[in-house]
Amino acid sequence: MNKSLRKAVIAGNWKMNKNRAKAKALISELAPLVSDAGCDVVCCVPFTDLETALAAAGGTNIKIGAQNCHWAESGAFTAEISAGMLKEMGVPYVIIGHSERRQYFGETDETVNKRVRAALDAGLTVILCVGELLSQREHNITGEICSMQTKIALNGVSKNELKNIIIAYEPVWAIGTGKTATSEQAGEANGFIRGVVESLYGKEAADALTIQYGGSMNAENAGELLDKEHVDGGLIGGASLKAPDFAAIVKAAGR
Ligand code: PGA
Repeated sequence: MNKSLRKAVIAGNWKMNKNRAKAKALISELAPLVSDAGCDVVCCVPFTDLETALAAAGGTNIKIGAQNCHWAESGAFTAEISAGMLKEMGVPYVIIGHSERRQYFGETDETVNKRVRAALDAGLTVILCVGELLSQREHNITGEICSMQTKIALNGVSKNELKNIIIAYEPVWAIGTGKTATSEQAGEANGFIRGVVESLYGKEAADALTIQYGGSMNAENAGELLDKEHVDGGLIGGASLKAPDFAAIVKAAGR
């Protein structure tokens, strides 16, 4: 396997942080710091910040993403946003299946799959999150959980469409806890997920798939995590909210 076959992608997941003024300020501060990035740089912002973020990122190498989308094109789904609405705004990326959506908002593998399908149909690039709970790791079923989540989320996704998918392995116990997976744990899980994708789509497609690690990745630990063969980037929460920290991670990915 060759890491150079894959695109490194560092994506920030701002979660429910930053109003429009702060979003504009952060992207403006970040842009010169990452202008020579050796990887793709994405900021996934709250829906209300999308327009501001797209404008602030115009003419830079920063791409903008949303943090979820619904599976229907339109209809009686109060508070939801469709993939087509994002596409029409010029948003290229969307996170789907984040563990906070699964934990707090009742998302299931089936709804994640429906959202993935809708995002692909609309022409968006999907950052698909999978990962186990602490109790599942303790029961030694990390592989089973990641395999199940990956297989169900990719149900009905063709080999060609896989080019528009990035998988983010995010162990739930490492998210926002300051508890990072060791680089060995991250490398092992990412490699396992690549094996699952290989079993579905073959080696060439699996080798070309970008698989990120996410969970308390920061400026200090990014280099070691990103050195692992199967860790092709990161999905960054807390450390994406400060431009110098996020830029340092981008730099680590471009080495
Ligand atoms: P964290 O979040 O970096 O704050 O742990 C990562 C994520 O939830 O995507």
